[in-house]
Amino acid sequence: MSKIAVFASGNGSNFQSIVESSKEYDYNVDILVCNQANAFVIERANSLGIETYIFNHKDYKDRSIYEKEIINYLKVRDVKLIVLAGYMRLLSKTFLDEYEGRIINIHPSMLPDYPGINSIEDAYNDKASNIGVTIFYVDSGVDTGKIIEQSGFTIVNKSLEKVRQMTHELEHELYPKTIQKVLEEQ
Ligand code: GAR
Repeated sequence: MSKIAVFASGNGSNFQSIVESSKEYDYNVDILVCNQANAFVIERANSLGIETYIFNHKDYKDRSIYEKEIINYLKVRDVKLIVLAGYMRLLSKTFLDEYEGRIINIHPSMLPDYPGINSIEDAYNDKASNIGVTIFYVDSGVDTGKIIEQSGFTIVNKSLEKVRQMTHELEHELYPKTIQKVLEEQ
């Protein structure tokens, strides 16, 4: 059974689906790492009985200092894969080098289209032919790493609300499955 760490900063619906789906797969969520003490994802972790590592990035002079602390913490726990799920901080070279090829992220668009924020709304307002979800290996850019999995649907005849809902449902289905696949290929 491989241990994974999920990094999140906000709502945590993906975190919850990853934890709940893990029963069907060969991994378990060992720890939630969160940089926002008041994020809803922490309440979810408490209800699901998952340990949390909470820090405030503003307490540190630079990124690599808090990342070194996180690395030391994760090493002791023997975490095999870092899963970003709405983690709103870039990772520095320190972290990327330590976990090279073992950090993945999810984004609500058909990358390379619509990276960054407001992707669903922007794609919708542009009447993009396809909207969807991308899972990719993390590099130093914003939503730029090598694509692992992508799945999309047409936005024709759908409200923005419907598109948003379908995107999140797709994320919750695709991410746990892809985590399992990435672990098997390691
Ligand atoms: C998800 O839609 C995820 O794709 C997105 O943040 C949301 C987090 O939702 N990530 C990015 O935009 C990464 N660039 P959640 O907190 O409910 O899981």
